[in-house]
Amino acid sequence: VTFTVEDHDGNRQSIEAPDDMGLSLMEVLKASEYPVLATCGGMALCATCHIEVLEGKNGLGDATDIELDQLESLPEYFPTSRLACQIRISDELDGAIIKLRGEDN
Ligand code: FES
Repeated sequence: VTFTVEDHDGNRQSIEAPDDMGLSLMEVLKASEYPVLATCGGMALCATCHIEVLEGKNGLGDATDIELDQLESLPEYFPTSRLACQIRISDELDGAIIKLRGEDN
């Protein structure tokens, strides 16, 4: 699948990722050398993998209660906010636009 990532400076880049390896969006962002801390390693405990889904939210499914709890603990989050570690790479992500929101990025 191919989707677009917007970094903290507003630069956009197209990213290709395999959708048959069970990877999370967080893992792909890190592998693409985006500065995602992911302190908790993808357990929905740290919220440092905070992203915003600018386009393509519909196919991604809803955030779980655990994910929402983490998002609500952030100083700033948006209706389109998600934790990248809780999104599996699937064809639903094709064409999506993701914006990095995690602190220290
Ligand atoms: Fe910690 Fe996603 S990596 S919440």
